[in-house]
Amino acid sequence: MSLWIQVAYIVAALLFASGLKLLSSPATARRGNLLSALGMLLAVAATLFTQGLSFQWIAVGVLAGAIIGATAARVVAMTAMPEMVALFNGSGGLASLLVGWAEFVRGQQDMQASLAVPILLAVLIGGVTFTGSVMAWAKLQDMTIGRFKLGPALVYPGQQVINSIILLGIIACAVLLLMAPPAGGNFLLIIIGISLLLGFLTVIPIGGADMPVVISLLNSYSGLAACAAGFVIENNILIVAGSLVGASGIILTKIMCKAMNRSLGNVLFSGFGSAASKKGKAAEGEAKPISAEDTYYILEAASSVAVVPGYGLAVAQAQHVVKELGDLLEANGAEVRYAIHPVAGRMPGHMNVLLAEADVPYDSLIEMDDINPIMETIDVCLVIGANDVVNPAAREDETSPIYGMPIIDVDKAKTVIVSKRSMATGFAGVQNPLFFKDNTRMFFGDAKASWQEVVSEFKSG
Ligand code: TAP
Repeated sequence: MSLWIQVAYIVAALLFASGLKLLSSPATARRGNLLSALGMLLAVAATLFTQGLSFQWIAVGVLAGAIIGATAARVVAMTAMPEMVALFNGSGGLASLLVGWAEFVRGQQDMQASLAVPILLAVLIGGVTFTGSVMAWAKLQDMTIGRFKLGPALVYPGQQVINSIILLGIIACAVLLLMAPPAGGNFLLIIIGISLLLGFLTVIPIGGADMPVVISLLNSYSGLAACAAGFVIENNILIVAGSLVGASGIILTKIMCKAMNRSLGNVLFSGFGSAASKKGKAAEGEAKPISAEDTYYILEAASSVAVVPGYGLAVAQAQHVVKELGDLLEANGAEVRYAIHPVAGRMPGHMNVLLAEADVPYDSLIEMDDINPIMETIDVCLVIGANDVVNPAAREDETSPIYGMPIIDVDKAKTVIVSKRSMATGFAGVQNPLFFKDNTRMFFGDAKASWQEVVSEFKSG
């Protein structure tokens, strides 16, 4: 039977890898997700044939997991997905920690260093992932403890020194444990305690727009912890799945850092958005509001339109009305493109998913690097609920905290219409000079309601 389990694991691993490959394009992502889920089903089913399992406890776990998973899938809003992913990463980290700890206790008497090493890694990485993810979740929820706001980056003097001392403490305990594993129970407990502390302390100084990067990094850690747990319990599919999560998480982290023109070190240690970080020049001038009726007149005369969606489009759930507007514009003879910034919204692919939900064809989506060279030829650029990803300060103001971040150059279009509710800043908390440019008009209001008005103008006009 064990041979069949291994064969099933190999098939499951192939399904995971091909699923991941298909996830790289919106056109095939749905199939990729299904394939990976099938792989997971096969892996779980094969594992249930392992000798000596306690099915009562497995049933309790399956029931609890199914209830939590199904409820989360139904009630968690798309915009709260990063929080949910943070909690799921944390659960993965905690599970690996518990597996490592339990296996140490079970085999402590004859514990060999060769098993103690993966146990240490599962416990250490799992612990950091667990509390780091809980802290990331609390920050995304903008939680407060008393008068203490957790959301922004919290930097304090000597932070890195304290973290380095903690790390050295972990290394010292690990060495002592490995010298005599059967007598190392207390060292393992200390490592568990300080790795939990380290998770909190490493995420505390990160905040604002950097949180999605941290969540992706913690996702990678949860994979590495699972991989280590796989070595502990000698389970090949856990090793493979953990490595895939670890590798894809780190690749995604790198992609996000590149899209923000930041290094990972800068994201983790610069305290972006904290009281001490740079603020950029104040944007000056007078914003020029525009009505739904005038927006209609401008669009009616346009022959090329680019829609730049952002987080606010997701909040307003304006994707369907924006698609309807796009169809009306096309019927009116305009060429309509949807320009996608890689970190628009709050999670990778956020805008692609939203627009796919409204049946916007994939070939109408244009990536930032492809739209920017033709931006000057676009008659009207509609910035709908986007802010940081179109902020020219990233290009022009060296003192801006987002200086160097690649943006969609909407200010180079002939006319820009910015649809948002107020003059408020975006996620990065940075003022946007785009709102004051001569060719910009501010279309104030909730994105869904505003564009519904314009659609009505089109229909009655
Ligand atoms: P943001 O800069 O966060 O701006 C969103 C804008 O939407 C806000 O200024 C807000 O202005 C507006 N808004 C909110 N609700 C609205 C509604 N109901 N109707 C109309 N407008 C509404 O969004 P973005 O341009 O998409 O940028 C994403 C940010 O997240 C960047 O800073 C990026 O670096 C960061 N980030 C994202 C990722 C991923 S993977 N997506 C990863 C790392 C970092 P009002 O309040 O005035 O309406």
